[in-house]
Amino acid sequence: MTIIDEVWLKSQWREADSISMKQTQSTREQGVTKLRAIPMFTDLSETDLETFADMVQLKRYPKGAFIVTQNERGSTMYLLVSGRVKVSLASPSGKELALNYLEAPAHFGEMSLVDAEPRSADVIAVTDVELFSLDAKDLSSAIQINPRLALSLIATLSRRLRQTILRLEDMAFHDATHRVMRVVLNVATASYETRGVPVIQGLTHYDIATLAGTSRETASRIISNLAKDGVLATKGRKIVVDLIKLRERLEGE
Ligand code: CMP
Repeated sequence: MTIIDEVWLKSQWREADSISMKQTQSTREQGVTKLRAIPMFTDLSETDLETFADMVQLKRYPKGAFIVTQNERGSTMYLLVSGRVKVSLASPSGKELALNYLEAPAHFGEMSLVDAEPRSADVIAVTDVELFSLDAKDLSSAIQINPRLALSLIATLSRRLRQTILRLEDMAFHDATHRVMRVVLNVATASYETRGVPVIQGLTHYDIATLAGTSRETASRIISNLAKDGVLATKGRKIVVDLIKLRERLEGE
């Protein structure tokens, strides 16, 4: 997607379909069912789930929509119910640096809500997504109902800080080949841990390049060299990775 497409989508899709859970009994029940499916809420009682459902709004965004825009003021956080989003930064000249891809269940938008600073990044739907939004005014009540929410916010912040430190280290000390290999290893390892297969799916060479902080051409060249060396294989739109070989490569650098 070009930067022009993104600007257009920004203007078109800021207003998502939105359903307030307070509206009707059936939307509330729908909210309770969807909340219960999020691991952090599974153990809550029916009453707590209903109270929580009254605080949140269920929203749907189409693929390509900007859910959060960098530098805007924001006082809402989001719980991703289904779909995938990209957290990224855009330079004034239109270059993109992807910080992360988040898949449901996950949350985002908590930083501005906690420190009242502008949004740190864009968050863009890369598939159609469904999420709950929670306003800052309701955060402390939400935490009282479900203290795991606070623990999850802290754990996620530390994990993202660690990832950012690793990225900084890679940018400062390693070349594009190392950075592309690291991205491929991270994504394929996450897929192996969640789905049992070390596969990269739904990410183009451009997406890998923006995660590695390099150009699409460079990322494609490195991926094709890794394929020649048997470290990975491209099958249609999937990349199947030999995790052991790739880890050995990275350690040998
Ligand atoms: P906020 O700054 O409110 O809006 C943008 C959101 O992107 C931010 O909150 C975080 O939830 C999320 N975010 C920022 N940096 C990262 C990162 N490195 N990895 C994952 N998510 C991030």
